[in-house]
Amino acid sequence: MSIVIGNKQFAAQEWQTLQSHFFSHDVDPEFICVEQSLDLQGEVSLVGAKNAVLVIMASLLLAEGKSVLHNVPFSADVVQMVALLEELGAQVMFYPELNVLEVDTTNIGSCQVPPSIMKKMRASVLVMGPLLARFGKADIALPGGCLIGARPIDFHLKNFAKMGVSLEVDGEFLRAHAAQLKCANLILEYPSIGATENLLMAATLTQGKTRIVNAALEPEVIDLIALLRSMGARITVHAPATIEIEGVEQLRPVEHTVMMDRLEAGSLLLAAAITGGSIRLPHAVATDMEVFLLKLQEMGHEIEIGVNGRGVTLCATKQPQAVSFATAPYPGFPTDLQAPMMAALCLAQGKSVIHETVFENRFLHVREFQKMGAQISIEGDRAKITGVEELYGTSVIATDIRSSCALVIAGLAAKGTTAITGVHHWRRGYQALEKKLMHLGAKIVMN
Ligand code: UD1
Repeated sequence: MSIVIGNKQFAAQEWQTLQSHFFSHDVDPEFICVEQSLDLQGEVSLVGAKNAVLVIMASLLLAEGKSVLHNVPFSADVVQMVALLEELGAQVMFYPELNVLEVDTTNIGSCQVPPSIMKKMRASVLVMGPLLARFGKADIALPGGCLIGARPIDFHLKNFAKMGVSLEVDGEFLRAHAAQLKCANLILEYPSIGATENLLMAATLTQGKTRIVNAALEPEVIDLIALLRSMGARITVHAPATIEIEGVEQLRPVEHTVMMDRLEAGSLLLAAAITGGSIRLPHAVATDMEVFLLKLQEMGHEIEIGVNGRGVTLCATKQPQAVSFATAPYPGFPTDLQAPMMAALCLAQGKSVIHETVFENRFLHVREFQKMGAQISIEGDRAKITGVEELYGTSVIATDIRSSCALVIAGLAAKGTTAITGVHHWRRGYQALEKKLMHLGAKIVMN
């Protein structure tokens, strides 16, 4: 039993039951129905970042004992990660109403990630580094393909091999083991976030100095580094993108507050922008999303940033202009905000070009926007958008977490009703984001 709501306890697998306790509907919905809702107004708070908390939860396996995390979002992926940690033998208590998670890793009895969990959440691969570092082995079900691209894990594996890990495919499992990890100079051909995190975690308990060259330095990686340092790890970051890790004998359990979700922040700003409204996000960290904020300004929206970069206010222009950008690793424009930004550009005056450089197949939402009346053409990895006067509500399909959000944002501005299927994607990435939008004046029904 692991999830505590009020004084009731639920197993992580009881997700279906949990939803009715926490979200704005009684049964698992098939549609998100969005009515045109112009001029969203107000202030909302953010919750912890999904992309930071998943790896942070995995990293707790590095130390024996009980750790406590604050600001943990109650989303389906987090519940999946709870289920995975329990599968390995951790004792987990999750208090979603408080956004607190306690993980006791004293009795880890298994190093195996079953296919049932890996298929639901590819981030499960992030337990590999911690398991190899603490127990010398990790058996993970082979990750399947994914709708936003092939998403291989070759950078992880190639560099684990350099650290002395032997890898063998056995049926549907990848079996990795190493009597003792070796320090090494690791080089990433591309600054993969997952590979950087996995190798970094493995190196914390590896004797000697490990370097990760061309590492990803997204704010979520920096949050992981902060947590690992609190656990006792010795890590330094050198410009432009090298992480150096001096292995230690052991790490200790930790108490940590997860960083705010910059992707939730970006989505809320876009919801206000597309509806011609205004919004204040007192918890948003502007430095985590500078390029994105500059693009909003370039569209004509007024952006005000609070003292020390804390807090962002957006006041939307009534005549948004087209802008062009390429997605890129941090500090570039985040690929996870590409689809939500495209929603806003469908209604901007002029021609925008989006160059998707991170994933090779991340334009599946384009077809859905076209159904709503958007004018978009795709040429290879570029989408060309000609702004239209209006979008129209219709039935559309979400194909991944961020496209679900993009379609909700488009639905807020579209005439009539937009019915979005693929609601499980929305549940994976956000803690009741629909409630925050409704608080701003959005008309959303889950049914
Ligand atoms: C993370 C985020 C995801 C985001 C993505 C890119 C989490 C849980 N997920 O995913 O939301 O969309 O970063 O910002 O944090 N690649 C390889 N080989 C590898 C690893 C990656 O070719 O071994 C490629 C991928 O296919 C992709 C690119 O590198 O084209 C970036 O992937 P990566 O940064 O690893 O993404 P994730 O960590 O999976």
